[in-house]
Amino acid sequence: MDNPYVLTHQTPTHKDYIDTTDFDQSEILDIIKVSTAVRSFLKSGGTLETLYHQNLAMIFEQKSTRTRVSFEVAMEQLGGHALNLAPGAIQLGAHETIGDTAKVLARMCNLIMARVDRHASVVELAEKSTVPVINGMSDYNHPTQEMGDIITILDHLPADKAWNDVKVVFVGDCTQVCASLMMITTKLGMNFVHYGPQDKWLSDDILNIGRANVQQYGGSVQVSDDPAILKGADFLYTDVWYGLYDNETPKEVYMRDFYPKYQVNDEMLAATENPNVKFMHCLPANRGEEVTDSVLDGPHSVAWDEAENRLTAQRGLCLYFGGVAQDALNEIKRQKEE
Ligand code: CP
Repeated sequence: MDNPYVLTHQTPTHKDYIDTTDFDQSEILDIIKVSTAVRSFLKSGGTLETLYHQNLAMIFEQKSTRTRVSFEVAMEQLGGHALNLAPGAIQLGAHETIGDTAKVLARMCNLIMARVDRHASVVELAEKSTVPVINGMSDYNHPTQEMGDIITILDHLPADKAWNDVKVVFVGDCTQVCASLMMITTKLGMNFVHYGPQDKWLSDDILNIGRANVQQYGGSVQVSDDPAILKGADFLYTDVWYGLYDNETPKEVYMRDFYPKYQVNDEMLAATENPNVKFMHCLPANRGEEVTDSVLDGPHSVAWDEAENRLTAQRGLCLYFGGVAQDALNEIKRQKEE
């Protein structure tokens, strides 16, 4: 029987958290285990100082609410500190290279988290840094969102289903969040569908990651523009159709391509023929576009739990990549046995 206080890999098997494709299922389950154990412990009134005197440098090339706040609160709750290095606040870009920034931050901080415009930037940061680097979103993927999302899905599993029986449908554009949801759900052997216009489907290169996961862990990965694919969905997930980057396709074009067919509204929930279907959104949302108010604020929505689980996940990630996840579990066990 699984011991809730013992990780399969008691020390991290990778220095950095850039892409969940680098991790096998047991490593992902370890991060979920420490994240959810710490959540339960803190919610029951416990305190942990496992990251005492640890510093996290947070580089942001773009705006952020959830990622920024969840990392800062996670570090503070566990006895550490986070530095918000907002756009324009450090020399990166204008006067200093990514590599030099990485080397300097690694001399002063224990962990680095970076939200970058281009994936190559976070890869280079990790290569040059001697301390762990966590990818806080790039134009390719959003692995910290993945961890919060998979915890949310496991929190809201249908009562009659094992996790590898659930069907997760991402509706809309092939954003990095869509790619990431595909990567993490197939890593756990779930059934993933990308439902959207054919010219906005995930690329074959990205789908091949899911196909390899299906070979290893079971489940399935599909793309479709046929609304019949919605039937039996346990989770409907969407993301904004535009607005992530400045120089992208205009709003009018996205509205023409996605609206109204790919808007998650009450009719789409009904098309699942599942009265218990759950709705997820990484947020922020463009209300009235990819999702209606009635769905986002309605009884099927778990989007607010999902937002809170960004904090659940960041605590686990900081502990895991700080090399002290097993220490945190040992401390929780010790305090519970007192
Ligand atoms: N979902 C997400 O990453 O939100 P922020 O952009 O506010 O961090």
